[in-house]
Amino acid sequence: NANLPTVTLEEVAKHNSLQTGVWVIYQNTVYDVTNFVDSHPGGEKILLAAGKDVEPFWDLYAVHKSPHVLSILAEYAIARL
Ligand code: HEM
Repeated sequence: NANLPTVTLEEVAKHNSLQTGVWVIYQNTVYDVTNFVDSHPGGEKILLAAGKDVEPFWDLYAVHKSPHVLSILAEYAIARL
């Protein structure tokens, strides 16, 4: 993670759709999950968090706070805030 480039919140916010790419933030790391959207078990709900921090959504859908989900997320890391 230390080698990842730094991006701004504004830059992340622009990636809020399948057209622009779907970026999310989790604990100050930025993930490009565009290619995961089709395989998300929760379907298109994942797009609600596009360009934003996922934590408020994951507080509601607590299924995500598991090692399994975090290991999927880790594969998509692209930057740090
Ligand atoms: C389920 C990943 C964002 C809603 C899951 C599961 C994974 C996953 C792996 C299956 C978990 C299990 O059953 O053990 C992700 C990732 C996300 C993300 C990597 C972001 C990068 C979201 C968001 C929402 C959401 C933002 C809602 C706004 C759900 C729901 C389920 C689910 C409702 C349960 C589906 C079911 O079992 O019927 N997600 N998720 N997810 N996700 Fe997400």
